[in-house]
Amino acid sequence: MIKPGQLVMLVSPKGKRYFRILNPEEIINTNDGQLQMQNIMEKGFGSTLDTHLGRTYTVFKPTLYDLIKSVKRRTQIIYPKDIGYIIVKLGIGPGSKVIESGSGSGALTTALAWFVGDQGKVYSYERREEFASLCQKNLQQNGLSGRVENIHKDISTGFDQTNVDALFLDVRTPWDYLEHIPGALLPGGPVGFLLPTTNQVSELLAAMEKGPFTSVEVLEILVRRYKPVPERLRPDDRMVAHTGYLIFARLKTETAPEAPVDDPVEYEVEGDEFDC
Ligand SMILES: C[S@@+](CC[C@H](N)C(=O)[O-])C[C@H]1O[C@@H](n2cnc3c(N)ncnc32)[C@H](O)[C@@H]1O
Repeated sequence: MIKPGQLVMLVSPKGKRYFRILNPEEIINTNDGQLQMQNIMEKGFGSTLDTHLGRTYTVFKPTLYDLIKSVKRRTQIIYPKDIGYIIVKLGIGPGSKVIESGSGSGALTTALAWFVGDQGKVYSYERREEFASLCQKNLQQNGLSGRVENIHKDISTGFDQTNVDALFLDVRTPWDYLEHIPGALLPGGPVGFLLPTTNQVSELLAAMEKGPFTSVEVLEILVRRYKPVPERLRPDDRMVAHTGYLIFARLKTETAPEAPVDDPVEYEVEGDEFDC
């Protein structure tokens, strides 16, 4: 039994996905006919049910991956492979307060909102009205809008918050806004950027060298999918070769000494021999 108010994902015979918040009084209109929400609630996750035209749909509890992939896009979005690392590097978890810009279509906003929980907050800045409302609409569809403050504002005038736990910029010229970061982010806090070209990365790094940033890391994340056929297991013929470069750093106080470049192998671990 699924409770009213829960978000469900319905998958059509052709693989089209519908996301709905359940209300037992309502009907879902699909390309294949109508589904009663009451029936979906009674059948539960993992079950199948037929529309009034006899087409079979499957009911799932959506994962964050499903939600990100379902975001209605009118801008480039950040993909799950990059979002996973962003969340870990920025230390986003229940109760986190985080600033991001721009909101764009709200793919990253969705993930941040998912992880900050009901006690946390995402402050999402966007200078174009149509994208600020698109982001808000996508969040409403996923039931996450209560965790996000959508701020329709150009970040060239700075951020309204102070002492947030983390900050992420997905804008074309992030070096123009570095001066506003120290006033908004907790000292020592993590900051991240996504940029599509190496020229932009170089420009950002040059600007960061002049500012209060340390432990700088630049990377990209490549995912290679495999055809899931047990007797002929091999990679897919095509892969997405490029989405964007990720840049991370820590905000240092003016007096803090320069920390070495963030090298994952430099982390101290207990014991360096493993028997499994
Ligand atoms: C690539 S999109 C962001 C996509 C978003 N991260 C996502 O995952 O859906 C970049 C957005 O940044 C916004 N933007 C660019 N410069 C900005 C600025 N100075 N202040 C606020 N928003 C800005 C653009 O309008 C655009 O919507």
